[in-house]
Amino acid sequence: MRKRAVALYAGMGVLISILTFMLMPAYSQEDIVNLADSAFGDRERPAAVFAHEEHNEKAEIEECNVCHHLYRGGNKVDDESSEGTNCSACHYVEGGDTTRPLMKAYHELCKSCHQENKAGPVTCGECHRK
Ligand code: HEC
Ligand code: HEC
Ligand code: HEC
Ligand code: HEC
Repeated sequence: MRKRAVALYAGMGVLISILTFMLMPAYSQEDIVNLADSAFGDRERPAAVFAHEEHNEKAEIEECNVCHHLYRGGNKVDDESSEGTNCSACHYVEGGDTTRPLMKAYHELCKSCHQENKAGPVTCGECHRK
């Protein structure tokens, strides 16, 4: 009897750890309210305001790869995405041979869409809020 109870508790422990692990990425995504990319090291500006979920709902962006894109052979792949991979894994602070530098990458992605839609901030202080 006791052995079986121990096995049951151990089993439940494993199950709970698996569940916690599975739920973790969802939490980290929902929790994003601003961006302070640690890749920059010593910062010049306050973090950029970006409430991930709320922003994408309001802006009605349906495809994750509008931002979390994936390139192959120099071309953007339409139906695949790179969420879970940081921008800085491909766009380096100092720039690379094949990708634009990190700050330029962020600014282009965020500002170009705001400009096209005539909605969303385009000045420094509107994004980098104290
Ligand atoms: C408007 C742009 C945008 C859209 C659309 C978007 N994201 Fe993100 N997301 C970001 C940015 C920027 C980060 C922070 C990336 C970093 O820190 O390098 C991020 C971070 C994340 C993270 C945290 C892990 C990580 O990469 O640091 C997850 C998970 C994620 N996004 C999932 C999603 C999913 C799923 C969708 C589609 C339902 C989505 N995102 C749509 C911009 C976007
Ligand atoms: C898996 C690697 C990878 C990840 C992750 C990635 N990029 Fe890119 N990105 C590229 C490549 C490759 C190009 C094409 C070369 C170039 O123009 O820099 C590109 C191009 C761009 C461009 C110019 C073309 C366009 O689509 O607008 C912007 C802006 C950009 N990336 C911003 C970002 C931002 C911001 C993030 C994080 C949300 C991000 N990228 C994540 C690889 C990546
Ligand atoms: C594909 C289009 C698109 C991209 C990419 C995009 N945005 Fe936006 N953003 C919008 C639109 C549309 C609005 C206006 C939404 C509304 O309020 O109706 C907006 C609004 C905002 C706002 C105002 C909402 C607030 O909380 O005050 C902020 C801040 C913002 N965006 C930051 C960002 C940042 C930072 C990025 C890059 C990581 C980004 N956006 C990328 C479309 C986009
Ligand atoms: C649409 C929003 C947006 C606007 C407008 C914007 N930025 Fe950014 N900026 C970002 C995002 C997103 C990042 C990357 C996330 C972060 O803050 O670490 C970034 C990063 C930076 C960084 C690197 C991090 C640091 O603090 O050292 C600097 C510097 C910067 N921006 C300066 C500026 C200046 C100057 C302007 C005006 C000319 C400006 N930004 C306008 C969104 C914006």
